[in-house]
Amino acid sequence: MSIFLIPAAMTLVLVLVILFLIIYIYNIQPQRNKYHPIGGTVLNMLINFKRLHHYMTKLAAKYKTFRMISPFHGEIYTTDPAIVEYILKTNFHNYGKGTYTHSLLEDFLGDGIFTVDGAKWREQRKMASHEFSTKVLRDFSGVTFRKNAIQVGHMFSEAATTNQVVDINDLFMKATADSIFKVAFGINLDNLSGSNEEGVRFSRAFDDANELTYNRLVDITWKIKRFLNIGSEAKLKKNLKVVDEFVYKIIRIKREQIMNNSKDVSLQVMKEDILSRFMQMENEDPKYIRDVIMNYVLAGKDPIAATMTWLIYMLCKHPDVQDKVAKDIQEATNMNGEIRNVADFEARVSEEGLERMQYLQATLAETIRLYPALPLDIKICFSDDVLPDGCVVKKGDMIAYMPYAMGRMKFIWGDDAQDFKPERWLDHNGCFRSESPFKFTAFQAGPRTCLGREFAYRQMKIFSCILLGCFVFKLSNANEDPKYRTTINIQLDGPLNVYVYARSGLHIR
Ligand code: HEM
Repeated sequence: MSIFLIPAAMTLVLVLVILFLIIYIYNIQPQRNKYHPIGGTVLNMLINFKRLHHYMTKLAAKYKTFRMISPFHGEIYTTDPAIVEYILKTNFHNYGKGTYTHSLLEDFLGDGIFTVDGAKWREQRKMASHEFSTKVLRDFSGVTFRKNAIQVGHMFSEAATTNQVVDINDLFMKATADSIFKVAFGINLDNLSGSNEEGVRFSRAFDDANELTYNRLVDITWKIKRFLNIGSEAKLKKNLKVVDEFVYKIIRIKREQIMNNSKDVSLQVMKEDILSRFMQMENEDPKYIRDVIMNYVLAGKDPIAATMTWLIYMLCKHPDVQDKVAKDIQEATNMNGEIRNVADFEARVSEEGLERMQYLQATLAETIRLYPALPLDIKICFSDDVLPDGCVVKKGDMIAYMPYAMGRMKFIWGDDAQDFKPERWLDHNGCFRSESPFKFTAFQAGPRTCLGREFAYRQMKIFSCILLGCFVFKLSNANEDPKYRTTINIQLDGPLNVYVYARSGLHIR
């Protein structure tokens, strides 16, 4: 054992010495150019990895924009809306994924929309923008979301009757996986019912691969580990094998469906899902299709599940807000008469009713402000530049804006920045009022702004309207202070157990 510990300790000491030398050199360099203050080193980030966003928020409260010293390139982290606007919009062409982000994410996400720039990005953006604007997708996804919300509702009814706790984190991860697989690929994943073992295995491996990939951000030895196939990289490889087997199987099934479909024009199978259209219109390379699938799963599953879980958590912590949301739903749906079950409730929720739920919309936005699904977003600088605050950024430097920290900055949101207050999103008439995307950065901004924003809000509104309209939620452990998993998305770590009660006045069975 000690034989291995000595070289490990020596390597650690060497790394520390190199890091401190770099810090020293940075500090004594002639200060002709203006640089952001140093917040720490990547080693500090590694040490604080489990609470990374808390750690970065603390630094941001002190510095607004700061550098973290890394042996390979400059790293700048910002919460300044002026810098965010500059890198995401004003000088968009100078900041992108670059080879650094691409190499971090490539094994997991391949050449999908989240990892590429230039022509490859434009092509996928064009295709995806078209898909997201179609009425077919809107109608098809609406039906799917409602069906899945009813299924979750039935599980809650059961739990309410038997007084059992429910792990909503697990439930929402399964529900959103089912939704995106149905809408994007026309596949019944059936994670909710658990009937599809392969689907469950895929989801687990996907989540682990996501976390292990994010770990590369602070693990400067990941390339060596990958080369030697050891530690976290060996685990990642194993998980990606499970993921790939499942995804390539979907591609084979889809191809067969499309071929059968084209033979028989009366069989209009699955024409609504995004993948079928992609496979009919785009190149047939299975690796390319695999990358498209992986990027859609990442975009469509975790952010919504995470937001829904944080929403219920915040509503349990703020029962007064939970009551106001329920009142908003009640008034917007004008629900009266006997409601026999969740499906009965859902049938009375019209599209116009959903539009009227302004307080619910505000509560969702407030949840996303404090728990943005993507808490930290990285860009690479393509050529030397000067940021709006006069500080220099060099070609190859990484610059990250931090939606999680930004949501907690007093200089952006006022002294009550840390408070959960949906009212901040409402005007004098109680109507939802959006914020500047450079201040509320959860969906990014500029030419690469999130394409699924409306899609996401619709799914979250349908789910929350049906679930919060029918049930009251209470934490099983009122002192619960949940942790997050430091993955690409800010997922709650472990179960979030709640008690569910049928809302009074409704006779949900
Ligand atoms: C609460 C839910 C969501 C949040 C907070 C969110 C946030 C974001 C953010 C921050 C980005 C920029 C990522 C980057 O730098 O590459 C992004 C991009 C994107 N999002 Fe979302 N997203 C959400 C849901 C969705 C959903 C449900 C979909 C689709 C099913 C989706 C599709 C996309 C796509 C395709 C992009 C890539 C845009 C591009 O690079 O041109 N998002 N999203």
